[in-house]
Amino acid sequence: MSIVTVDRPRGLAPPVESRPIDMALLGCGSVGSAVAALSATAAARPIRIVGALVRHPERPRPAAAPARLQFTRAAATLLDRRPDVVVEVLGSVEPARTIVRDALERGIPVVTANKSLLAACGDELAETAARTGVPLLYEASVLAGVPFLGALARRPHAAALSRLTGIVNGTSNFILSRMAADGEEADAALGEAQRRGLAEPDPRSDVDGIDAAEKLIVLLRHFAFGNASVRDLEITGIRRVQRLDFALAAELGGDIKPVISARRSDAGVDAFVGPALVPQAHPLARIAGVDNALQLRTAYGDLMYSGPGAGPVATATTILDDVVEAVSGTAPANIGGMRRGTVRIDAPATGWFVRLTASALPAGDEIADLLGAHGIWLRRTAERQGADRAAAGLLTHPCARERIERALAALDAAWRCEPFAIRALES
Ligand SMILES: NC(=O)c1ccc[n+]([C@@H]2O[C@H](COP(=O)([O-])OP(=O)(O)OC[C@H]3O[C@@H](n4cnc5c(N)ncnc54)[C@H](OP(=O)(O)O)[C@@H]3O)[C@@H](O)[C@H]2O)c1
Repeated sequence: MSIVTVDRPRGLAPPVESRPIDMALLGCGSVGSAVAALSATAAARPIRIVGALVRHPERPRPAAAPARLQFTRAAATLLDRRPDVVVEVLGSVEPARTIVRDALERGIPVVTANKSLLAACGDELAETAARTGVPLLYEASVLAGVPFLGALARRPHAAALSRLTGIVNGTSNFILSRMAADGEEADAALGEAQRRGLAEPDPRSDVDGIDAAEKLIVLLRHFAFGNASVRDLEITGIRRVQRLDFALAAELGGDIKPVISARRSDAGVDAFVGPALVPQAHPLARIAGVDNALQLRTAYGDLMYSGPGAGPVATATTILDDVVEAVSGTAPANIGGMRRGTVRIDAPATGWFVRLTASALPAGDEIADLLGAHGIWLRRTAERQGADRAAAGLLTHPCARERIERALAALDAAWRCEPFAIRALES
């Protein structure tokens, strides 16, 4: 960035650029207290916090939060102080929605990391931001530590995507990575994630795929696929993935990752959220632990963004860059300012990874014949013989979910083999 200096006559008020940014903080939990702490030292411009909205003003705050922060339960009082910017890190939809809308109506720029808010009513808030001409920035809502949404908002040709595939939930990726590397079952890996502070005491949003689905909805709107709701998506959690699946997947040439996927179709968008077999040669196969990644298909090739997807410091750092951008008038107009039409979401036809277990399984060609009778063709198979159970892993050619479900019901009726299936990505 170039810096231009201008001689000013004595006696004029300092330009806005040189005075501290007045920031109202909505929420002072994990992320909010990191924003407060870093704003004292790490922001590109001095920041003064005019107050912080919390549920329990009397509760002791993390040592990192500045000691003199003023806490309140009254959001309107904070907005009445006419801050230059509002940072929303409350989580969930209300009261965030009402306060963010109020701020935008008052002409106050908003920075948020709240994907639940954006997934539920991002369209309405984008409309308010566009009508009032006030920035609404949300870089930290997806891949919180990897700034790419703003960069691509300035690059409309590069951002004309046909497809996006990614790992956007660090907790699920940590759990599946532990199961793959250490042979743990899902419950043990979740317990370890909670002990390390990588999973919430109530982990449902992460392990049941809701957090990833909300991020996919934010991405669909940002990259102009259109507006959709979490309810439109096929969402599968990771709870039913077993340690055995990683051994079978490895024999079939893949790993299992918590995936989001969307691609444009003639009717709208084909999308799903859930654990999937990822071929070892796929760039997502090497994204392990809490890291996140997104592969974006452009007209000229694939872009790959990866790095920390969460964590208070990574998230707060991204938020503070958004704060400076929001008050400097340099935010690209199409971030949060563009209303999108509603898009139809369908579940795609993909390959499938299938696990079968029984005390004795039929021969491979009997399984292939039954699947063939349902129009399902096998790519590869793997077998494992345990002390008292036999297991098989199947990798199929692409087919619709209804077709694989009918075939698996027939397999189970014939051989009581407890079939379990997840989607498989192409390499
Ligand atoms: N944690 C991460 O690494 C991460 C990464 C990216 C994005 N995010 C997003 O950032 C947001 C905040 O996450 P977090 O982990 O910081 O959550 P958190 O630790 O639960 O903090 C939430 C804060 O909001 C306050 N709050 C919640 N509901 C309120 C209400 N109705 N009225 C007033 N105050 C209320 C809470 O007040 P009390 O303290 O008094 O309870 C608390 O200070 C979420 O949208 C999350 O998805 C988080």
